[in-house]
Amino acid sequence: MNDNVFYRNIRKEYPIVDRGEGIYLYDIHGKRYIDACSGSAVANLGHAHKKVVQAMSEQAKRIAFAHLSRWTSRPLQRLADMVASLAPGSLNKLYLVSGGSEATESALKMARQYYLERDGRSSKYKVISRWISFHGNTIGALSMTGDVRRKKYGPLLLNFPKVAPAYCYRCFFKREPENCGLECAYDLERVIKLEGPETIAAFIAEPVVGAAAGALVPPPDYFKVIREICDRYDILFIADEVMTGFGRTGTMFAVEQFGVVPDIICVAKGMSAGYIPLGGLIVKDEIYEVFKHGSGVFVHGHTYGGNPLAAAVAVAVIEVLLEEKLVENSRVMGEYLLEQLKENLSKFSIVGDIRGRGLMLGVELVADKATKRPFDPKLNMAERVTLKLMEHGVIVYPGTGAADGEAGDHFLLAPPLIITKEQVDELVGLMVKAFAELEKDLVKGL
Ligand SMILES: Cc1ncc(COP(=O)(O)O)c(C=O)c1O
Repeated sequence: MNDNVFYRNIRKEYPIVDRGEGIYLYDIHGKRYIDACSGSAVANLGHAHKKVVQAMSEQAKRIAFAHLSRWTSRPLQRLADMVASLAPGSLNKLYLVSGGSEATESALKMARQYYLERDGRSSKYKVISRWISFHGNTIGALSMTGDVRRKKYGPLLLNFPKVAPAYCYRCFFKREPENCGLECAYDLERVIKLEGPETIAAFIAEPVVGAAAGALVPPPDYFKVIREICDRYDILFIADEVMTGFGRTGTMFAVEQFGVVPDIICVAKGMSAGYIPLGGLIVKDEIYEVFKHGSGVFVHGHTYGGNPLAAAVAVAVIEVLLEEKLVENSRVMGEYLLEQLKENLSKFSIVGDIRGRGLMLGVELVADKATKRPFDPKLNMAERVTLKLMEHGVIVYPGTGAADGEAGDHFLLAPPLIITKEQVDELVGLMVKAFAELEKDLVKGL
């Protein structure tokens, strides 16, 4: 068959997916795979969940699209109510878009306009972010992103400052976690002062870093220090929970585990669990009030944002998340999977670090365990491991460049939150077989 698709990687051979059921995907030849990364931490309820499919079809029959500049809808209002009841503190207002990059891009614009609305002629416009982070691929989102994906687009990007990541396995300050003094958090204060606080509108961070590094969990007090610094210099704290939001790390939002409330939470993936493109901002009442008493208009919006079909799907997804107690399952199965991975994978010479929270776990691959030396990027080790795992029927989400911006291989494990203990055992068993084969090949110099 002629294939006129412009793929991300034109040289790669992609298997053809036929259907999904629960945590499994099937290709057109009937081969079964465990979707051990939910695509990219998206398909949190697994595939073909009957309740979501039914809600989707019912809403599509009634009204799929009505432009948000002229209409609101019951599903949209219901979704906003549900999200307000689930989000911490006064994070009560929901602004919808259609994906993660649109969400972070919207947050950057909202932060800018917030200060304009509040102060009149505001000088605050920069958004500080961290190295080894991913906030999306559109120009604003990529400007905040601190990983390899930004390199080719340098001349197009906004000149936004970056601070050190909370990357304990490869601490930028060469400290040990026990006595690190949270240097990485205080790096934010240093950069704010250097840039001038009057120019900074916001700081954005993923509570647990996903695609850029494979599940980096910061020290327990990291975000408390970040929150204090943001407050001291009148800067909004944006939590990018596009990957972590809606239960992925074992709590509804990952930031809750660090005892702070951000000013804006960006969400996407888990909110509609892959059943429809959707993203959003959960915004504090205090910010909403500034807009309400200012111009009343957020000068932004995308055609599909807040459409009734996407909202109805998200309502059904969140209902399932609550009814099936999947946030709790994410915590419990996440702990079990982490323990099993440590027990069964640590023995392999290329496994440097196994980490994460809930069902968002990462494996960092190294050429030398003792020195943590990463593989030569030319070896494409993350992709090689991914292909080997795929042969064994396991799909993971690979990434590169975390160690120094060029080298550093890892992959993310983020199975659907419905995974059972038996399925975790099946997953780990298949991974051990794949790693054993790979290790043999490496010894043979293949
Ligand atoms: C933390 C984070 N922010 C933003 C994005 C971008 O989302 P999207 O791919 O839906 O544009 C991603 C995607 O992986 C992400 O993980």
